[in-house]
Amino acid sequence: MKGLILSGGSGRRLRPLTHTSAKQLVPIANVPILHYVVADLVGVGITDIGIVVGDTGNEVRASVGDGSRWGASVTYIDQEAPLGLAHAVKVAEGFLGDEPFAMYLGDNMFEDSLDEVVEGFDGSVAARLLLAHVDDPSSFGVAELASDGSIAALFEKPAEPPSDLALVGVYLFGPRIHEAVRAIEPSARGELEITDAIQWLLDSGETVEHRVLDGWWIDTGKKDPLLACNRLVLDRLGGDGVVVDDGAEVVDSTLVGPVVVAAGARILHSTVGPYVSVGGDCSIERSTVEHSVLMQGASVTDLDHLTASVLGREVEVSGVPGESVRVSLLLGDHSVVDVGGSGGCTDG
Ligand code: DAU
Repeated sequence: MKGLILSGGSGRRLRPLTHTSAKQLVPIANVPILHYVVADLVGVGITDIGIVVGDTGNEVRASVGDGSRWGASVTYIDQEAPLGLAHAVKVAEGFLGDEPFAMYLGDNMFEDSLDEVVEGFDGSVAARLLLAHVDDPSSFGVAELASDGSIAALFEKPAEPPSDLALVGVYLFGPRIHEAVRAIEPSARGELEITDAIQWLLDSGETVEHRVLDGWWIDTGKKDPLLACNRLVLDRLGGDGVVVDDGAEVVDSTLVGPVVVAAGARILHSTVGPYVSVGGDCSIERSTVEHSVLMQGASVTDLDHLTASVLGREVEVSGVPGESVRVSLLLGDHSVVDVGGSGGCTDG
């Protein structure tokens, strides 16, 4: 079985973070989301992997490389514009050929391995989907089940969802999907929807199996789910949950686990944690930071305190010494924000 990771798209919901960089490369516990995705596929023996890329393709290539560090072989497939998940399958047809494949959305993360999902799938049925119960089904593709428990129909982001069972970001397909993606028309939002392609398979009398997921699953494409994912992954750290890489400096500070601090980071006179990922070369001085992701080179100075925030690369945030204000921020790369008397966004 081959793997197909979708890492194109525009990342509208994480702007401004994704104006300049790929949403699939946002770090969770200091590791890019896409690296977990590659490792998950390799974990179930899928090593021949295609990655569909768009505008941020160079950055994705630089981060993942040829896949050899996971024992995988990665082929990059250019998609000229984010014209939909089914369009991504279309542009990957040359790579996929007639083989069964696992399609994995590059911004999704899962608690459990994919063992049970892929077990026994050889492409002789047209598709196998993964479903999960969610609170807000209208943000997802949604499945309607028949009385025998099989999938009766699928709807993409329906205003009135027929169930709370969302399509989650791993799909297994046999070769008939290629006919389906050629047969469908763009949706109202102008995309070739994979949901419509699977509906076409159902309408053509093909078998579409499904599994319902037990463990957590997160579409990391928005700030709050991204921070929730960071918390869940940091919760896996053993011991006191404090991991400070060699080459990081922590002086006169308290680290409250779980927290990870990457090489080159400096934490001075501060309290950091719980649930904070401090990226490489970040600097936190005279500040309190909790429940946040700080990407490479971000700095926080004289701020009490920063919570529920995602700071892009080289962001500079400063507060006012001796002043206490609770701030929650989502900032794109290289932003400079002065919080305190004169500015910033507070969450009360
Ligand atoms: O997360 C699960 C949901 O993913 C499903 O419930 C929906 O049925 C499915 O349509 C999809 O919805 P999203 O609106 O969340 O998809 P998004 O645009 O975020 O794209 C998912 C991934 O695929 C993301 O890593 C970007 C990539 N992508 C997306 C498009 C539209 C591409 O590589 N090419 C594309 O053309």
